[in-house]
Amino acid sequence: MFYPLLTGTLDYCLPQVRDFYGNISNHWFIGGAQIQVIIEAQDLKKTFGDIIAVDSISFSVKKGEVFGFLGPNGAGKTSTMKIIACVSPRTSGAIRVFGMDPDNFPAEIKMRLGVVPQETNLDPDFTCYGNLFTYSRYFDIPPDIAHQRTQELLEFVQLQEKKDVAIEKLSGGMKRRLILARALVNNPDLLILDEPTIGLDPQARHLIWERLKLLQAQGNTIVLTTHYLDEAARLCDRLVIMDNGKILVEGSPVDLVKQYVGEEIVEVEKTEDVLSCLSGKNIPFEVIGEYVQIATGSSRDVVRTLFDHCSPHKVLTRPATLEDVFLKLTGRKLRE
Ligand SMILES: Nc1ncnc2c1ncn2[C@@H]1O[C@H](COP(=O)(O)OP(=O)(O)OP(=O)(O)O)[C@@H](O)[C@H]1O
Ligand SMILES: [Mg+2]
Repeated sequence: MFYPLLTGTLDYCLPQVRDFYGNISNHWFIGGAQIQVIIEAQDLKKTFGDIIAVDSISFSVKKGEVFGFLGPNGAGKTSTMKIIACVSPRTSGAIRVFGMDPDNFPAEIKMRLGVVPQETNLDPDFTCYGNLFTYSRYFDIPPDIAHQRTQELLEFVQLQEKKDVAIEKLSGGMKRRLILARALVNNPDLLILDEPTIGLDPQARHLIWERLKLLQAQGNTIVLTTHYLDEAARLCDRLVIMDNGKILVEGSPVDLVKQYVGEEIVEVEKTEDVLSCLSGKNIPFEVIGEYVQIATGSSRDVVRTLFDHCSPHKVLTRPATLEDVFLKLTGRKLRE
């Protein structure tokens, strides 16, 4: 579901309500149900000199959902994450996080955020335990609670055995897991994860997915970027696909696949017979290297036509995926 953004400034269009803790929060009332909007952005823009990294994008993230930002390298995902995380100010447009403007309330917002940055930035002077414990100081967490929480979080990401190990002795995947643990030190309401599973082996990715699902079940809101489209399809309730700083589409993974590709994909080895046969039968197809791809609602019918009329060599059928949507919308050319 897409929440309509009214024209005008966010101050004008979003009602501001104070929650139990006195924090300003935004609420939409949809179909009688109260839905809390955690992030609301309108015409958000970020430029670096002549480069337009984020080009007037609008989106909203509601409480409890996992919201994904997908896009090729340089699409503007990290720039958007950094604005939300209050580490890089926007150039123009409006954004509210927990109902607050990052320009005016960075400290208040950061207190409620957990951030996994794209770059691994653990403190090399400390052990695993030391990194988490020291980080708790930024949030004024009393030492005894910080100690207990550090132990729990090391267990949560299955690094308890590495408690006293120096950062330089961890593998890349272990560092990524430790950064996730660090993001949870302050028990955040909103997690901002920029490629949280980059470079992880399948076991570690599954562990992180399981942990993120658990955090969502506990009421956390999660915003993430990833280049693993199976991961996005599995985790995200809604996502946007960005390119060149703009949002191309927004929706749930299942809806996007249905809307932009279809149910199934048939892949057949490219031969002259197959090409002329498909053209003759007016079956739309795309040539990708040495094979031909046909998106269809019924692979059975397409396969039957191929075998009855087109003398195919190799034929493969599979469900359409988010990766098909991504490549369809953003193309196959490598980014600089
Ligand atoms: N500090 C900066 N100074 C200048 N240009 C920048 C800076 N940060 C980002 N950019 C540019 O902004 C654009 C968007 O970059 P961004 O890091 O947001 O992309 P991304 O979608 O996160 O890409 P990736 O998938 O590679 O992480 C790129 O053209 C990038 O070169
Ligand atoms: Mg990035």
